[in-house]
Amino acid sequence: MSALVDLASQMDLPGRRDAMFAGERINVTENRSVLHTALRRPRGDRLVVEGVDVVAEVHQVLDQIYAFAQQVRGGKWVGASGRRIRTLVNIGIGGSDLGPAMVYEALKSYVKDGLECRFVSNIDPTDLAVKTADLDPETTLFIVVSKTFTTLETLTNARLARQWLWDGLETAGAIGTSEAGRAGAVAKHFVAVSTALDKVAAFGIDPANAFGFWDWVGGRYSVDSAVGTILAVALGPELFDEFLGGFYAIDKHFCTEPLSRNVPVLMGLLGVWYRNFLNLTSHAVLPYAQYLHRFAAYLQQLTMESNGKRVRLDGTPVTADTGEIFWGEPGTNGQHAFFQLIHQGTQIVPADFIAFATPVHPLKDGDTDVHELLLANYLAQTKALAFGKSEAEVRAEGTPEALVPHRVFPGNRPTTSILAPALTPGVLGQLIALYEHITFVQGVIWGIDSFDQWGVELGKQLALEITPAITGDAAALAAQDASTQSLIRLYHSLRRTG
Ligand code: F6P
Repeated sequence: MSALVDLASQMDLPGRRDAMFAGERINVTENRSVLHTALRRPRGDRLVVEGVDVVAEVHQVLDQIYAFAQQVRGGKWVGASGRRIRTLVNIGIGGSDLGPAMVYEALKSYVKDGLECRFVSNIDPTDLAVKTADLDPETTLFIVVSKTFTTLETLTNARLARQWLWDGLETAGAIGTSEAGRAGAVAKHFVAVSTALDKVAAFGIDPANAFGFWDWVGGRYSVDSAVGTILAVALGPELFDEFLGGFYAIDKHFCTEPLSRNVPVLMGLLGVWYRNFLNLTSHAVLPYAQYLHRFAAYLQQLTMESNGKRVRLDGTPVTADTGEIFWGEPGTNGQHAFFQLIHQGTQIVPADFIAFATPVHPLKDGDTDVHELLLANYLAQTKALAFGKSEAEVRAEGTPEALVPHRVFPGNRPTTSILAPALTPGVLGQLIALYEHITFVQGVIWGIDSFDQWGVELGKQLALEITPAITGDAAALAAQDASTQSLIRLYHSLRRTG
């Protein structure tokens, strides 16, 4: 551990951390500051970056979001026919979806009665079709979330949703078919979250109903910005503040604790140890909490979009592997699926176990507290992974000789336990900030830019080029490579219409 801490010092982790918190432009390839930590600084705090007090700006937007949240929660924000809003649908993808969706699921027990939230992200039209199928347009409000407001999936889904709204309201007689009627419906049933408020207006959403954020908030670091608007409505301003307070507590710890006692630093360094020194490629995250069932998906974007990089800040190739592959499922479901490989496979998978002392739903099976059954399972797994079961122990149980090798557990497989008092908004904020900073620490050790994501661009560009080829433009089809051409022809031969 002390050698790893020395490595962090050699890479000037404290200096890099302080540069991030101060708003220096550490995202060099996009020439941007990285200031998600400013999003949770308390009201009245000050952080002046390039002449602007960013904390004051953050709280101005928070006030706007909270006022909107109170209107919806109190039934004062009504739809085109005067009925109160019952369902909020978040339309966004990547960071504009995964954070809010994960947190909504995690904190469902805190959601205001009578309000439901849904999340549409995929350009597969099934997503929007299924999520709106049983909704009443008169009581539905869409929140279109896109940092850039150019993302194909989000804008396509937003247009589909707008059409669904108009059709529904017109059929119900709530609005006429005039332009004015339609625009009025959008004003009451659509709000937006973006850094590009001009593009929001071009879509037809009144800028007065738009919540802004800044280019110094990366998409995967944005759940505590206006991107979390749906959460502020569902949970209410007080709990949203508590959520932000959790992030802030970890920020303070990260900035002030010595490296050798600093949890995100130590966990980040352990990840580097596993990846680079033990050559382990993946890292499981196993929440023993059903409500955290989207946590691994959220973490995948946070960690892998950040640290899946092959060149260093100066563009030279890295000389050590980067980026752990994160994955996971809640316990105990995972135990009955992939734990076999974790216990006895040929590759070691370091795993983070996350558990809570107090359950959200304290149910009993007869005299048994079922939460304690869950915790016993969690502790059984970390124990089995650490200590295993030797040949001698297996033999001593009277196991037939031929089966002995099959029943041996090598043990010495590393786990980290995070045991928190309860899954509250504050604790969840702490958990997210912890992994944000773990990701940062690893990026500093690897010398990469953890805040850009150029690796997603090629696919976006090619999808635009392939669209005409698939929709019937013969020249565009002929311009494709042989493999893509064959697949498109096969698609055309299989596609049923009508
Ligand atoms: O394509 C990747 C990405 O840019 C993510 O980084 C981002 O979270 C997501 O797309 C959505 O982007 P936006 O919020 O601009 O729609």
